[in-house]
Amino acid sequence: MTISPQQLLRAELANMQAYQVANSEGLIKLDAMENPYSFPASLQEQWLSTLKELELNRYPDPQASQLKQDFRTTYAVSSNLEMLFGNGSDELIQLLILAIAKPDACILTVTPSFSMYKIIAEFVGVRVIEVPLTAETFALQTNQVCKKIQQHKPALVFLACPNNPTGTLWPQAEVEKIVQQSSGLVVIDEAYAPFAAYSMLPLVEKYSHVLMLRTLSKMGLAGLRLGWLLGAEQWLSELNKLRLPYNINALTQASASLALNNISIFDAQAKLICQQRQLLSAAMQEIEGLQVFPSEANFILFKTLNSSAEIVFKRLIDNKILIKFVANNKLLDNCLRVTVGAENENRAFIAALKNSLF
Ligand SMILES: Cc1ncc(COP(=O)(O)O)c(C=O)c1O
Repeated sequence: MTISPQQLLRAELANMQAYQVANSEGLIKLDAMENPYSFPASLQEQWLSTLKELELNRYPDPQASQLKQDFRTTYAVSSNLEMLFGNGSDELIQLLILAIAKPDACILTVTPSFSMYKIIAEFVGVRVIEVPLTAETFALQTNQVCKKIQQHKPALVFLACPNNPTGTLWPQAEVEKIVQQSSGLVVIDEAYAPFAAYSMLPLVEKYSHVLMLRTLSKMGLAGLRLGWLLGAEQWLSELNKLRLPYNINALTQASASLALNNISIFDAQAKLICQQRQLLSAAMQEIEGLQVFPSEANFILFKTLNSSAEIVFKRLIDNKILIKFVANNKLLDNCLRVTVGAENENRAFIAALKNSLF
């Protein structure tokens, strides 16, 4: 007997696509908000000897206790806040949505924003309420958001601060208005915190229904896959019940601890990236036919005013540069997103971009 996937699997799967990652072989990779600098040479010996000591025949520490302690010390996490780790912050987004997935539950996000909130919710069968940002400045329509919160009572509100793919960092007072209106959890996703002028952490300390999502990915450790959720113990201890027992592997735990104990090296890299962001943005603004949006993250959103973004994207690939095509949202018409790279990569991008506009 042959059983087809369509017979057995959930119907939603037939209409879904696996997450697409562009092939970057032979290209300068400026599409995924990775840190362009490799793992610090000064730490490599220590890192290898740490890894050598690990007992790979044993399961990792299910609580990641040492790592938790290292996070507490490095980021001076206050003792009334708890932490939960995920295999990337993507996994924590999934865990949060699974936790609220009652039959009538919904989540609220703004649009455009990070795509995984919607992708995961739709698969889990949770309704998604989207409130558009304003055109051109990508500001929060706070009153609209509050109205939708009152109307739909979302169990979760996701706000990426700074926002991906716009790079916008909304004023804390605006985010706080949404927090005050919300009768569900508000998850402030600070994936790009290392590059932002300020953090919304005070809101997590002030309101027990605010959780904060962070990741080590953008600061230079995307390959480790480590995200962390910060918030009141009463919430995190419940969410922890959904976490798979050994979700953070031993190599990640040990490597992340070493990185946290040497955080100044990664902070210095983030500072360099912010300097490069400034230079890159200035160089882009000098190019005619581009609208360059301000960014508080390690990427820059821009619009091609006289050329098709799709064609520019393809021409950049012909010039060995891979960035991200994001024009699949009404508010992002003709927009592209470039990750801030190392100086030579940014120079190559600028030269290729000048070649690619028409
Ligand atoms: C806003 C935001 N949150 C979360 C993530 C996921 O990060 P990771 O799963 O690598 O921790 C991303 C990745 O691009 C992002 O842009």
